[in-house]
Amino acid sequence: MDKQLLSIFELFPNRQRDDLIPMLHKIQDQFGFLSEELIIEVGKYLDISVNKIFGVATFYDNFRFGPRGKYHIRLCHGTACHVAGSTTILAELEKRLKIKNGETDKNGLFSLEVVSCIGACGLAPLIEINEEYHTSLTVDSVKNILDHYRENHNSD
Ligand code: FES
Repeated sequence: MDKQLLSIFELFPNRQRDDLIPMLHKIQDQFGFLSEELIIEVGKYLDISVNKIFGVATFYDNFRFGPRGKYHIRLCHGTACHVAGSTTILAELEKRLKIKNGETDKNGLFSLEVVSCIGACGLAPLIEINEEYHTSLTVDSVKNILDHYRENHNSD
């Protein structure tokens, strides 16, 4: 078994079902996402079925099941952004990228994560792409922003 994974398991010697969520967080922090192989190992260790683990993990927004895209989009869904229309922005991103929260597009270019307040409420609604902020978004500006990153990628 992977040494990093083993050292995470060692943090949970009692193998209790309540360990599942904190263990998944540690694994995601370490490996970047929850691969099927990792989930299988967790299932064996905690004696929980893989389906059950997927069920629990997908219930929470902040677990990822694949690697991030080259451009990782964090969409703020905090109160100010919500009031300013982040739900419409999310729908536009999902439509244009053909992915949902927590997923990566098929080219590995964009991934999407919905997060809570990222501390720039006066500029709502906003997204952060690889630590660059795009603020006061509209449906039209989403298209332009995605085009900009696609062009950057093509000129790399
Ligand atoms: S609610 Fe979006 S930055 Fe605060």
